[in-house]
Amino acid sequence: MSRFTPEKHLAQVQASMDAAGPRTAEVLRAAVKHLHAFVEEVNLTRDEWFAGIEFLTRVGQTCDATRQEFILLSDVLGVSMLVEMLNTPGDGAEATEPTVFGPFHVDGAPARPLGASIVDADVGGEPLTVRGTVRDTAGTPIAGASLDVWQTAPNGLYDVQDESQPPMNLRGVFTTGDDGGYSFETVRPAAYPIPGDGPVGDLLQAAGRHNWRPGHIHLAVSAPGHAPVITHIFDRASDYLDSDAVFGVRPSLVVDMDGGEARFDPVLLPVAT
Ligand code: BEZ
Ligand code: FE
Repeated sequence: MSRFTPEKHLAQVQASMDAAGPRTAEVLRAAVKHLHAFVEEVNLTRDEWFAGIEFLTRVGQTCDATRQEFILLSDVLGVSMLVEMLNTPGDGAEATEPTVFGPFHVDGAPARPLGASIVDADVGGEPLTVRGTVRDTAGTPIAGASLDVWQTAPNGLYDVQDESQPPMNLRGVFTTGDDGGYSFETVRPAAYPIPGDGPVGDLLQAAGRHNWRPGHIHLAVSAPGHAPVITHIFDRASDYLDSDAVFGVRPSLVVDMDGGEARFDPVLLPVAT
């Protein structure tokens, strides 16, 4: 009798998923297909399989209430960025491109008046004014759009990582005026490393990669009747623009921050409500 083949084996495993709901079955069948193909493609040895199991075990053990090593793993493998790309309607030519959300957003950042500073404590660094106009894809300014912004201090740390900063430092929510315009005062963002002391750091090291992100400011821009976008602006003068550890850089998001001024005009896609 001929030997059972990997193809027959795959079909058997996939069929075992068919009692699930249609979407769950679709996702599980595809996951199994690609997982089996990967094992076959690299001819995975037993030792390599076990090293993978140990690695994933360590990823899980590194997670706690404030650290999510699985998301970090997804980030450094480019999966988080891909999910954002696939789930943000429009394309870079019409609406602002998305980038990774990251783990350092905090709900409930203070609403600040247009033109206000998000710097609540002296953190040093170069003063920076950020301004722009939120528009829809037809070019019409959007009044009342919300911009939730957050960034690190020049020491590369967010308030939630740094006891020397007051809570909500370098965070704020701004609402555009009648002309769709916004502005705020801040400090020039610094490049900083993502956590490198866990299994994801070991993986980066094994791949000969660093764990740095270029200087950036996070923005979540939303307005009624429009698809929201989670994005960043990156400092054109920063290191690591070509090698962001989480693959978040898009040329359309790189802006000049020299001379204490930066301009960024978010574009939102109207959606049927
Ligand atoms: C961040 O930009 O805050 C970030 C994004 C992904 C992983 C770690 C940090
Ligand atoms: Fe960040």
